[in-house]
Amino acid sequence: MSTTATVTSPVSEREQLSLHATAVSEEKKPEEEYRYKHLLPHFSEDHYPPLEPFEHVDPAFRALKLANPRAFLDSARSVSEITPHLGTEVRGVNLARLDSSGRDQLALEVARRGLVVFRDQQEFIDNGPDFYLEWGRHFGRLHIHPTSGHPKGYPQLHLVYRDASTSFNFERDDSITTILWHSDVSYELQPPGLTTFFLLTAPPSGGDTLFTSQVAALKKLSSQFVAFLKTLKAVHSGVEQANFSRAGRRGGTVRREPVENVHPVVRKHPVTGEEALYVNRQFTRRIVGLKREESDAILNLLYDHIDKSADVQARAKWEPYTVVLWDNRITAHSANVDFRHLPYARHGARITPQAERPIPALEGLDLSA
Ligand SMILES: [Fe+2]
Repeated sequence: MSTTATVTSPVSEREQLSLHATAVSEEKKPEEEYRYKHLLPHFSEDHYPPLEPFEHVDPAFRALKLANPRAFLDSARSVSEITPHLGTEVRGVNLARLDSSGRDQLALEVARRGLVVFRDQQEFIDNGPDFYLEWGRHFGRLHIHPTSGHPKGYPQLHLVYRDASTSFNFERDDSITTILWHSDVSYELQPPGLTTFFLLTAPPSGGDTLFTSQVAALKKLSSQFVAFLKTLKAVHSGVEQANFSRAGRRGGTVRREPVENVHPVVRKHPVTGEEALYVNRQFTRRIVGLKREESDAILNLLYDHIDKSADVQARAKWEPYTVVLWDNRITAHSANVDFRHLPYARHGARITPQAERPIPALEGLDLSA
């Protein structure tokens, strides 16, 4: 049996209307069918074999050869830094019209800034799922998420969805915070690189996405400690996420058996050469070769450091028709479900190309378990 989510809710009619009124498409009447119904999460019973390794060629390398690798921003009305450490906000560039070279340049810009927020992208969002796939394939092989909902017929698109009565997200509702810093599906052998995400429906306020620079977070640590961290590798696991679904939550399907992979604690970006912390509370489980207490102490120190480092974080606030891109290799992010006590829906789609196997900052680090 497979299921597709429906936007049903026990909330009052007035609240339902309010919920519908928050859809990014503002022009529709309340009684109209949900405009993005075809993009609601569907949970098929398909089963996929393990992912095969592949060679990733980062499109940003091509942009490096250009005389002006930022030419795609020439037509922008505004380009402004969100923080000194990461994040740029762009107005006046239509992503849907970027040619191949423009997309290469975009990949380099995102690699350099970690996060780029594009406003006024109605054409991109309205182009629909076939376009999303074509877009994503420019940047790498599209990841099929093992457990999340996807639009029917488009398993390569990862959806987030919650409303007043339902959540199809990987969320912990028994925690005092909804903040959980992570790098997407870091348990894969070749985790994602440049990632595209947009909301189709948003609450009137809140539901921002939080980002942090794992490059800047690393730079804040002492050189002696960084030198030690570079010698370390850690296990990242998808087991807990799969068990969450196997317990009947988030649509209750596991379409690919969960994997664990070993990655360097400090990775190097293949294009910029920048070094970044690559551990996260959601998926990193232990440091290989250390005693349990040693591993826990170091990981908890790093998680606390990431949690507290608001001075290297940025916040993407969702305006209608915003498309956000980040480089999953050098940033971490968290949803912020500050509206969970309110009867609003939040519905988004992610296009998730995989990248290279993480490159250790310490050359020659043995990544066998
Ligand atoms: Fe995420």
